Amino acid sequence: MTDTLAPKTMRASRVTISQLMHPEHANLLGNVHGGWIMKLVDEAGALACMRHAQKKVVTVAIDSMTFREPIRIGDLIILNAEVTYTGRTSMEAEVQVLAENPITGERTHTNTAWLVYVALDDEGKPAPVPPLKAETDDEKRKMAEALQRQERRLQQKK
Ligand SMILES: CC(C)(COP(=O)(O)OP(=O)(O)OC[C@H]1O[C@@H](n2cnc3c(N)ncnc32)[C@H](O)[C@@H]1OP(=O)(O)O)[C@@H](O)C(=O)NCCC(=O)NCCS
Repeated sequence: MTDTLAPKTMRASRVTISQLMHPEHANLLGNVHGGWIMKLVDEAGALACMRHAQKKVVTVAIDSMTFREPIRIGDLIILNAEVTYTGRTSMEAEVQVLAENPITGERTHTNTAWLVYVALDDEGKPAPVPPLKAETDDEKRKMAEALQRQERRLQQKK
């Protein structure tokens, strides 16, 4: 299936998911529970990678996550995810997290996370993914930075 291995743009797999934060998403302080945000981050990154690879994916690594601002119950959480690196079977997704107050329209960038996924074939074995193609200088910069992050991860793994 050489067609699926033709290069694909970052734009093609870019994805946004949004969800209104309800009381069941709260921590003991009454803000959104960090674990809930991490789950949504993982889902958004996986979705971008599934779109890119057109295969099932599993999470293999998550870089450290720093929450710069709390997200409040009643806020709309918006997750923008895109593929920033592809290896043979692995992909990095960058996920930006925004919180929007739907009454005032104010948006806050609460954190950015990088996650690595591996595409799997029908037997659950790592499977090749299409190479990533940058269309803009900004995308080229993101891909170069992502390559450095992946090299660091593999170095740390040794
Ligand atoms: C992901 C998994 C299938 C990889 O299997 P594996 O035998 O380690 O396969 P490989 O060594 O060929 O690695 C596959 C790719 O992952 C990359 N990789 C492996 N460990 C990595 C790490 N810590 N960080 C970044 N990339 C990593 C490899 O570099 C390789 O990339 P490439 O094909 O683009 O060169 C296996 O580790 C697994 O099933 N992990 C559990 C996944 C899971 O359950 N996730 C949910 C978390 S609860």
